[in-house]
Amino acid sequence: CGIVGYFGYRSASDVVIEGLKKLEYRGYDSFGIATVDGEVNVYKCAGRISELSGEICGTGGTVCIGHTRWATHGIPDEINAHPHTDGTGRIAIVHNGIIENYMSLKSMLIKEGCTFKSDTDSEVIAHLIGKYYAGDLLEAVTRATEDLEGAYAFLSVAAGEDRIVAARDKNPLVIGIGDNEIIASSDVTPILEYTRNVYYVNDGDIISIDSKGVSVFNSGMPKAIVTDVIDWEIDSAKKGGFDHYMQKEIYEESDVFYQSFNSDIDPDFISELNSADEICVIACGTSYNAGLLFRYLMEMHCETPVRVEVASECRFFKPRKCSVVIAVTQSGETADTIAALNMAKASGCTTAAVTNVVGSSVTRVVDYSLYTRAGPEISVAATKSYTAQVAVFMSIVRKLCNGNIKEDLSEIHKVIEDALLVDVSEGAEICAGAFDIFYVGRGLYYPVSLEGALKIKEITYIHAEGYAAGELKHGPISLLCEETPIVAVCTMDVSHPVMLSNIKEMKARNAPVIAIGTEGDEDLDDVADVCIYVKRSTPLGEMLAVIVVLQMLAYQSAVILGRDIDKPRNLAKSVTVI
Ligand code: G6P
Repeated sequence: CGIVGYFGYRSASDVVIEGLKKLEYRGYDSFGIATVDGEVNVYKCAGRISELSGEICGTGGTVCIGHTRWATHGIPDEINAHPHTDGTGRIAIVHNGIIENYMSLKSMLIKEGCTFKSDTDSEVIAHLIGKYYAGDLLEAVTRATEDLEGAYAFLSVAAGEDRIVAARDKNPLVIGIGDNEIIASSDVTPILEYTRNVYYVNDGDIISIDSKGVSVFNSGMPKAIVTDVIDWEIDSAKKGGFDHYMQKEIYEESDVFYQSFNSDIDPDFISELNSADEICVIACGTSYNAGLLFRYLMEMHCETPVRVEVASECRFFKPRKCSVVIAVTQSGETADTIAALNMAKASGCTTAAVTNVVGSSVTRVVDYSLYTRAGPEISVAATKSYTAQVAVFMSIVRKLCNGNIKEDLSEIHKVIEDALLVDVSEGAEICAGAFDIFYVGRGLYYPVSLEGALKIKEITYIHAEGYAAGELKHGPISLLCEETPIVAVCTMDVSHPVMLSNIKEMKARNAPVIAIGTEGDEDLDDVADVCIYVKRSTPLGEMLAVIVVLQMLAYQSAVILGRDIDKPRNLAKSVTVI
């Protein structure tokens, strides 16, 4: 979910609505705002804020809070949409996170006479604040947070008070401090237009935003504010002539790779890795696939073993002490990843994060933050942020195993520019017409295939599975027929001969094969139905090109199917719940 609040001289509701549109990637099944004009006025509805047409009545004013939702508790309808109010309607809140003890709080509040309207956990926050409210919102919020367990970033307003009171525990919240205006938000994108001066709210902070400015309290004590300056360009968060953000973001990858590959890595961190017995990577989704690729790169070029874990599964293992744990998370906010990281930290591991967001929650937990330089990624499906993670990992491997990577990496980002020119249309036509697709590769191309399959699945809704090509014969081969296309990655690297025979096995079961190979590979031409060629380069150069080609294949297939590419159904870019 995404939250925005504004206090200032502009029309507060306009600023909040524009801000929510920028946060839609965090959730988009319903939205709502609350303004204060003596009374609290709430407007909310199911659907997307970007599809809102016309004016919202009774808005304007100087104070507004808003929310765009990704449903967790309760279906996405108007009642469950935020803001939620207390029984009197004097208090309204918008919340991102999960209140874990909401059931017990709810029954207590019901016993005390509260009536609940929604199925959400968030509504208890409004009732709790209402319960403690005696004319001072800051006091009531402070008291209410003492009862809350779980994760939250919330904004609240009260009738008769020209201010917003915010609180954070484990969910992201940033406050932009401009000239005579303040904007609070789940991330910096809605803030950029107004100011670059931000305060990253810490766990336990309670914040009052009013005509006196921003006051921060933690454990009941006033706290000095240390602000940061954002260096992201506003333009990089705009579509700039492309049909979709995803397309634009793929086109940025050459530069993103270059910036990320050459960004500084703390030499102390490299020393820690050098002396590590084992490195553990934890991540979710696309970031997990980048972590797996890191494992292959490390184990091919260095001695240190690398383990890669799905973050949400880590809670079921006894935290095993290993020298260094690296969390990979584009947003820096994924709840499962942060939970796993905290477990690792508690068991005494050195921790690091590879993330794209300066000041994000993960950076407060770890010993070392390694930044990808992808800039804001708006499309829900990760593309440039993944390439940036791969870049950082390649840079780490180069630093750790200098000499073992034989190829020159200084100009490697240029292969991406060539890859953008590759025609994937024939492959996309086949994929768009399929119900199931297998993506297969060996070695480095196994994790690359997993990511290719994830990408097409996310944005086309076609069932796609990534497989180690050698595993196909141990089960999935029984599914192969003329209706199950296979995307087989078969460049001229070490896996080439055996991939060719795997492709022949697939063809023997009549599966249409779309091969991604190296220009001039006539053997591949003979066995595959459609060949998509990348330019001949070094092994890692060809791998980067294949990554881009697979992203474009997913993109083009989704275009053919007319999908909502930047906001695929049910997905959220930043998943801040467990
Ligand atoms: C969500 C997104 C995925 C992303 C995953 C991990 O599920 O839809 O695209 O890979 O979260 O996100 P992170 O920010 O931790 O990389």
